[in-house]
Order: sequence, then structure tokens, then C-alpha cells
Amino acid sequence: MKIAIGSDHGGFELKQLVMEVLRTMGHEVVNEGCLSTESVDYPDFAAKVCELVRSGNCDRGILICGTGIGMSIAANRYRDIRAALCHEPYSAGKSREHNNANVLCLGGRVVGPELALDIVRVWVQTEFAGGRHQRRLDKLS
Ligand code: RB5
Repeated sequence: MKIAIGSDHGGFELKQLVMEVLRTMGHEVVNEGCLSTESVDYPDFAAKVCELVRSGNCDRGILICGTGIGMSIAANRYRDIRAALCHEPYSAGKSREHNNANVLCLGGRVVGPELALDIVRVWVQTEFAGGRHQRRLDKLS
């Protein structure tokens, strides 16, 4: 899978770990920044990642800021983006199975690295269930 990833300074360190795990899993990672812990604005990185997903250039996206909240607010403003802010693996799995979430948001200052990586693994590996869930998604468009 080709996965776009972006963060602000609050998510930079966790992003480094997430990229490593995704590559170990065999995925192609497109890093849209930021590139250091210097202070930046999260909407700029949400825009880059969401555009890659909307255009079909990437299959899915991952966005990380301090809480994950700013990134999820920003990402859900884009048409056809279904961004899920997850703090544990159960919701991450359901966001795929039930909501067909195409962007995962994480809070780099909220979840520890091991929990975050568990969330990422589940989210990446879980498929959309379709059926009644597709009917519900159709009502959002
Ligand atoms: C940056 O300090 C912080 O506000 C940002 O990373 C994020 O948590 C916003 O929602």
C-alpha cells in the first residue's frame, strides 16, 4: 500500500517511528513533512496528505499532531476524506471496518509509541466491511 504521512512539530517524533514500522511492513511511505521539531502549522500538512489521498496518488494517509485534534478537524474539511482520530486499536479497526476511514489521525503527545504503533498496525491491516456500512457512508456524500 502507498501511504502518505504528515505531521506538525507535535507529531514529528512519532511520525519517524510510524514511518519505520510502515516500511518494515512493506508499505511505500510518502513523507509530506514536517522535517524537524521546528514549530509549523498543522493545516498545511493535512492539506498535502489529503490531496494525495483524494487524487488517488496514495491509498491512505496518516496525520499526527500533538493531540490529533487539529489534524482531524483539518482533514475532515476535504471532500471524500474520512479521517479518524484514534487513541486505541479497537476504534482504529472499527474506523476501517465500519467507516472506511482513509486517513488516520494520531496525537503524538497523547499516545505512547507502543500504543501508537499498535493502532497503526490494526488500522493498516483492517479492511472495510461494506454492506450496511456503505449505505451509511453514501448518506454522508
Ligand atoms: C501544537 O502546539 C499543537 O497545537 C498541535 O500539534 C495540535 O495538537 C493541534 O491540534
